Amino acid sequence: MIGAAIAGAVVALGAVWYVRGPGPLAFTGGKNVAVADYKEGDPTGVPADMRQASLLERGKYLAEAADCVVCHTAPGGRKYAGGFAFKLPFGTMYSTNITPDSETGIGKYTDQEFLDAMHRGVRRDGARLYPAMPYTSYTFVTDADALAIKAYLFSLVPVRAVPPANSLMFPFNQRWAMAFWSVVFNPDTRFRPDTSQSLKWNRGAYLAEALAHCGECHTPRNIGFALDNRKKFAGAPVAGWHASDISSDRTTGLGGWTDDDIASYLSVGHVSGRGTASGPMGEAVDHSFSKMTKTDIDAMVTFLRSVPPATSSGPSLKSAPAPLSHTDGATASLLGKKVFEGACVSCHGWSGESAVSKFATLTGSSAVNDPSAVNVVQIVISGTRRLTPSSALSMPSFGHAFSDDEIAAVVNYVTARFGAKGSSLTARDIADLRAQN
Ligand code: HEC
Ligand code: HEC
Ligand code: HEC
Repeated sequence: MIGAAIAGAVVALGAVWYVRGPGPLAFTGGKNVAVADYKEGDPTGVPADMRQASLLERGKYLAEAADCVVCHTAPGGRKYAGGFAFKLPFGTMYSTNITPDSETGIGKYTDQEFLDAMHRGVRRDGARLYPAMPYTSYTFVTDADALAIKAYLFSLVPVRAVPPANSLMFPFNQRWAMAFWSVVFNPDTRFRPDTSQSLKWNRGAYLAEALAHCGECHTPRNIGFALDNRKKFAGAPVAGWHASDISSDRTTGLGGWTDDDIASYLSVGHVSGRGTASGPMGEAVDHSFSKMTKTDIDAMVTFLRSVPPATSSGPSLKSAPAPLSHTDGATASLLGKKVFEGACVSCHGWSGESAVSKFATLTGSSAVNDPSAVNVVQIVISGTRRLTPSSALSMPSFGHAFSDDEIAAVVNYVTARFGAKGSSLTARDIADLRAQN
């Protein structure tokens, strides 16, 4: 009996250990040391030329790099006042108010309580936070940086605002169960520089993993809804969009992009001939990456380059861009052609080379070359709401103007005409994608 119980426990532990898989930086095989023991310099904190800045300025830079605002602001709502809805397969969850209001916000949080929320996913009242708050990434943020972020948040005007109540199904409404989840999936450890890598690489790793949490969108999840770093940056679904493969794979990832391409995509949200950042990535660029210094963007590029190619397959990964002469779409869908002619051609042109905005060129775009076409669908439904001044012209939303049939048709037309392989979406697929956003 006891033997069987022990064997069972060993098997269970083995299974948990297997599901958890490697950490986000394990792929280098290098040795990790405490920040103080890393000889090359300090990869954490703000960029070197900002080290003398005030605590609030440093906190602002770090809060922007960590993009707290994007999740903690409801559409049209006050910044950081919470109420942003996360639509999950098992219900809807809302972010909370992190302005310093002492009743409805985080005004009563002590430094230690704030660190517990950031590093361990534990709320001030001791309750567990759901990992929609990306504390398994923020756990790598140093105490000093987390407290600088707190100082910045505490300098904001307090807003009285209570988010709507979550509507999660059983068993997902059982917060206490997150304690077990955390034990398995939260490393609860601060960033440890890798001695086999340069200071620049370590800076990029700190930014991308601890603060900017790229993996929370770009890395597929395991059966426990935690990041599966065996497929690091291989691409994953996010709120009805597809966060592309950003590993160094030459075909499906960034292997064929130059350093300048990646830097431009991150800081401006656009690369000629490769596409424009829309949806969740457009927001991340607008609120976060576009505010980073050039040296920090370059450090992230160095880090991204080192991520091994993802061995990715499956329909939702983009293929090599189609040649510019490609015009199969003409025969793909008559309804699609009609919609394109009526609603799209004025901005995008028949060649896919936009005459009105260099951001609106469809040829070469990853979204258009992804045969699953999920991002094209979302762009058509919700338009693009980019903030950066360089994209003065935004794309209008067509979600209300067109039926699911018309959206499917125009998307199938666009991917066939300007992409490598046309999509074959149906009205039902469009309805599904609408529901996820
Ligand atoms: C990807 C979305 C996302 C990002 C980015 C994010 N949060 Fe959150 N955060 C949430 C959600 C959702 C909750 C509520 C979770 C819950 O109720 O269990 C939350 C809860 C919190 C709480 C607990 C507040 C309370 O209710 O007592 C704190 C503190 C917090 N976040 C701080 C931050 C800070 C600081 C940042 C930036 C460094 C940040 N969050 C970035 C989604 C996010
Ligand atoms: C909130 C989710 C989210 C976060 C966080 C995020 N991304 Fe993205 N990313 C996306 C989505 C969605 C797309 C597809 C956008 C599109 O096609 O318009 C994308 C696209 C990209 C692309 C373009 C790839 C291609 O083939 O076109 C790059 C490069 C990229 N992301 C890099 C990053 C890096 C680096 C980080 C962290 C510093 C990051 N992303 C963080 C969601 C995210
Ligand atoms: C008023 C001009 C305008 C119209 C009309 C318009 N678009 Fe756009 N579209 C843009 C702009 C501008 C962008 C670039 C995104 C940005 O910077 O905001 C864009 C981006 C896109 C993208 C993403 C390209 C990439 O690089 O990832 C797709 C796909 C797209 N549009 C499809 C369509 C379709 C399909 C229609 C018709 C249903 C349409 N557009 C109508 C202006 C327009």
